[in-house]
Amino acid sequence: MATQFVIDGLTASIEDKEILKGINLEIKGGEVHAIMGPNGTGKSTLASALMGHPKYEVTGGSASLNGEDLLEMATDERARAGLFLAMQYPSEITGVTNSDFLRSAINARRGEGNEISLIKFIRQMEGKMKELDMNPEFAHRYLNEGFSGGEKKRNEILQMLLLDPKIVVLDEIDSGLDIDALKIVAAGVNSMRSEDRGFLIITHYQRLLNYIKPDFVHVMMQGRIVKSGGPELAERLENEGYDWVKEELGIVDETVGQA
Ligand SMILES: Nc1ncnc2c1ncn2[C@@H]1O[C@H](COP(=O)(O)OP(=O)(O)O)[C@@H](O)[C@H]1O
Ligand SMILES: [Mg+2]
Repeated sequence: MATQFVIDGLTASIEDKEILKGINLEIKGGEVHAIMGPNGTGKSTLASALMGHPKYEVTGGSASLNGEDLLEMATDERARAGLFLAMQYPSEITGVTNSDFLRSAINARRGEGNEISLIKFIRQMEGKMKELDMNPEFAHRYLNEGFSGGEKKRNEILQMLLLDPKIVVLDEIDSGLDIDALKIVAAGVNSMRSEDRGFLIITHYQRLLNYIKPDFVHVMMQGRIVKSGGPELAERLENEGYDWVKEELGIVDETVGQA
């Protein structure tokens, strides 16, 4: 079945503050969508709500992947269904090595009885780490512990490469990356583009989109998608900032959920 990811009227709250105020978005296999927006407009909340982060309460609307209701699923089931999130701030987990974590994640995705062999896993992991220009020692370090910002981002992309997801959500994958690391990360993402995989790339800078060409660009403000267009929209935002969008729509404060 062709990949189809549909978000319809999604609303979500954190600590009883409503942050997402009705998100509508449809991503088909082969498409790259970018969500851009200033800080504090709800972009990460959307990513977390989709993945089922326990702090975020979905209060309405729906999200489905190939007709399956994601919101009914636990986070690991969402991953098994093919949803992948690279987090803006990946967690550090002491005591779990990166390679153990990756193998568990792959096996959770593949399902019981279909586990990857150790040899095959190591071969794949080492190959992908090489592609990402990662030092092999990162396989044996505790997950994200003491990793620099850029190393964490590369490690998120490593997970994406190994997990073969259907829908990839990347939250500010470009933050903290120098230009060389950005190019490596973008190449990793581009190598995964295919007709049966869709991407949602969250960023507040246009820079990343020079390397990962989006088909659709959406602007998020006040917990909503307030404007959508093609790649030219990202270029205009790069040149002119966000003020013209606010003026056009009569928005004074673009943030959401501030006291
Ligand atoms: N963990 C949290 N605890 C409390 N409030 C939060 C949390 N995460 C997000 N918020 C609220 O949601 C608003 C939007 O945040 P976020 O989704 O991170 O925006 P963005 O990713 O666009 O910068 C914040 O201004 C804040 O009020
Ligand atoms: Mg964010």
